[in-house]
Amino acid sequence: MRKSLFFVCIRNVLSRQTKATRRQKRAENASGLSSVSLRRILTSFLFLFSNMNYKIRAAVKEDCKEIYRMIVELSVYEKVPDKVKITQEDLERDGFGQNPFFECLVAEVPEEHKSKEGRTAVGYALYACAYSTWNGRSICLEDLYVMQEFRGKGIGKGLLRKVAEEGKKKQCQKLQLTVLDWNKSAREFYAANGAVDITESEGRHVISFHGQNLDNLANEAPKD
Ligand SMILES: CC(C)(COP(=O)(O)OP(=O)(O)OC[C@H]1O[C@@H](n2cnc3c(N)ncnc32)[C@H](O)[C@@H]1OP(=O)(O)O)[C@@H](O)C(=O)NCCC(=O)NCCS
Repeated sequence: MRKSLFFVCIRNVLSRQTKATRRQKRAENASGLSSVSLRRILTSFLFLFSNMNYKIRAAVKEDCKEIYRMIVELSVYEKVPDKVKITQEDLERDGFGQNPFFECLVAEVPEEHKSKEGRTAVGYALYACAYSTWNGRSICLEDLYVMQEFRGKGIGKGLLRKVAEEGKKKQCQKLQLTVLDWNKSAREFYAANGAVDITESEGRHVISFHGQNLDNLANEAPKD
């Protein structure tokens, strides 16, 4: 008697479990999602709305291919793709030769968060030292770029802060850059991060000598 009661109990428990499993399976089939898939979706969702897991490091010569790719992407964003005259080799020589002309930081995401095209280098900041007769040592930020699918996750701010930190290490008093007039989004980004637009207050124009005009100027330099 005891034995049969025991078996009845076991059968009931097992049947309840099977019913529960069946119910769960039915629910999964109805929604087309398993709890694992749901967890994955939830993780991706949280990831999208949290700050991106990325690291910022000093660029090395081997990064020039990716930096060049992003320079071209930035020129497309700025609607002037024909303006990029340099090559990957120029970057290698000018940034990583004996007397580097610029420094560069690269923002990198882990493999599992790579871009749709399989990129892990997703942003860069390229800058050089300058000198101000008012403020002394300063940093000139030439490019700041984050690939579109990685924007709005704190990477641009991370890069900008790192450039500032590098500048402070070099005892620079100023971090300066130019931004296109129509690039309201970038202008607002800089302002939100504490930049002051001195275009009006200092009434400055950005002046450039290049191409034949620069050649002429140099060729007409007084001879020693
Ligand atoms: C401009 C750019 C570098 C910013 O990088 P990002 O990774 O998208 O920006 P972040 O996610 O780091 O933004 C950080 C902060 O700035 C704010 N911010 C970003 N874009 C903003 C905007 N358009 N207006 C106001 N605030 C902005 C964010 O809200 C965030 O603030 P929080 O920390 O208080 O939340 C990036 O959008 C980009 O590459 N744009 C295209 C290229 C470009 O214009 N480069 C600049 C050329 S001069």
